[in-house]
Amino acid sequence: MNTESLVTLDRNHLIHPVVNYRAHEQRGVAVLESGQGAYLRDSHGHELLDAFSGLWCVNTGYGHDSIVRAAEEQMRRLPYATGYFHFGSEPAIKLAAQLVELAPESLKRVYFTLGGSDAVDSAIRFIVNYWNALGKQEKKHFITLERGYHGSSSQGAGLTALPVFHRNFDLPLATHHRIPSHYAYRNPVGSDPTAIIDASVTALRNKVQELGADRVAAFFCEPIQGSGGVLVPPKGWLKAMENCCRELGILFVVDEVITGFGRTGPMFACEAEGVTPDLMTLAKGLTAGYAPMGAVLMSDAVYQGIADGANGFPIGHGHTYSAHPVSAAVALEVLRLYGEGGLLANGVEQAPRFEQGLHALLDHPLVGDARCRGMLGALELVADKNGKTPFDPGLKLADQLFEIAYRNGIILRAFADNILGFAPALCYSGQDFDLLFERLERTLDQVLDLPDVRRALR
Ligand SMILES: Cc1ncc(COP(=O)(O)O)c(C=O)c1O
Repeated sequence: MNTESLVTLDRNHLIHPVVNYRAHEQRGVAVLESGQGAYLRDSHGHELLDAFSGLWCVNTGYGHDSIVRAAEEQMRRLPYATGYFHFGSEPAIKLAAQLVELAPESLKRVYFTLGGSDAVDSAIRFIVNYWNALGKQEKKHFITLERGYHGSSSQGAGLTALPVFHRNFDLPLATHHRIPSHYAYRNPVGSDPTAIIDASVTALRNKVQELGADRVAAFFCEPIQGSGGVLVPPKGWLKAMENCCRELGILFVVDEVITGFGRTGPMFACEAEGVTPDLMTLAKGLTAGYAPMGAVLMSDAVYQGIADGANGFPIGHGHTYSAHPVSAAVALEVLRLYGEGGLLANGVEQAPRFEQGLHALLDHPLVGDARCRGMLGALELVADKNGKTPFDPGLKLADQLFEIAYRNGIILRAFADNILGFAPALCYSGQDFDLLFERLERTLDQVLDLPDVRRALR
């Protein structure tokens, strides 16, 4: 089908995630057609360097035949096996065991979902069930960070602290609370790591005290806040938050949907700080986007609490496609590529080149901040570097930036507040990075030449 017909059909029928529907109808869809390594091709034959791994998920890069073969073999043998009625399948069982082996030692049990939002939603349901099972029915309140993202399920979108996920959705609920982000570039306590960590710990303590520890179920956080603008906390922040949760008697939940599977260097970001959460949510890099899958990992204490509290009844939480055998087969091969296939090692080797490229752009008149960890990074654009003054939202700079970058052959994430997010695939080579930074600099120069931007600069 030609591109024009696809655009028309899309405009008439397909609802896209997190766009303004009217703006999408006007703009039309950009159809992606194929991918190889770090590169995508659109339906006009335009080649694009993907600097965002799809939606921070294609950590392996595109076009891995071995993943395709794993899916094909499983589809031929057994395309579906329910997990209900005590049934199961070999790939899902093996995958659960491998994840437990790779994850922080506290985590012993795995429930598979279809992605990150239902992993977070499942975690919330398990936590509610756990506290009820323990007879602590008052523990119903959840605390997250400002600018946090925890998906868009009915409950998870309330834990998400980005206003567009609440607008007209009657969220957050009265049980959803937040504390300030560590956001080093704009933290009122300044950029000193100890001061930032102390401020977060104090904020959590105060919030729990305000609500009453016997009413708080859990604190959820991302090790690096992704959709909130790639906000990288100081080293030691995650461990300090874990310790604080232990002291307060609330569950500590780490949402590694973005940061898992080598995105920040190690297999999981928790590993870097010896953090052992009560629950952990995963998705994205688990299957590198080749098939849908997410997971909730939980400690034995949480599992046993729920199991003992059931009193002979089934635990009423399930999905038809939980532990899907094809997704599990894909995930097993993806995990093999991260380890034996050398992708994690390549990510670690290439991370300094990525960091150096981002930091070099701090000299550019538009760039106020550059931050990263591993293969996850961001540039924050400002109208005035000294005052860290944001651009007027009326400029719609993010949209213009995205378009110019696309024309220059790169796909990046342009957040509404003029933060550019990057999540290159772990297969990136030095040459891919050379090309990325050459195209990125050209993009920033062209943005700088826009009359509106020139006028806004101070
Ligand atoms: C930290 C985090 N949690 C949950 C989600 C939701 O995952 P999904 O989009 O697969 O539902 C995301 C998605 O970006 C995420 O970044």
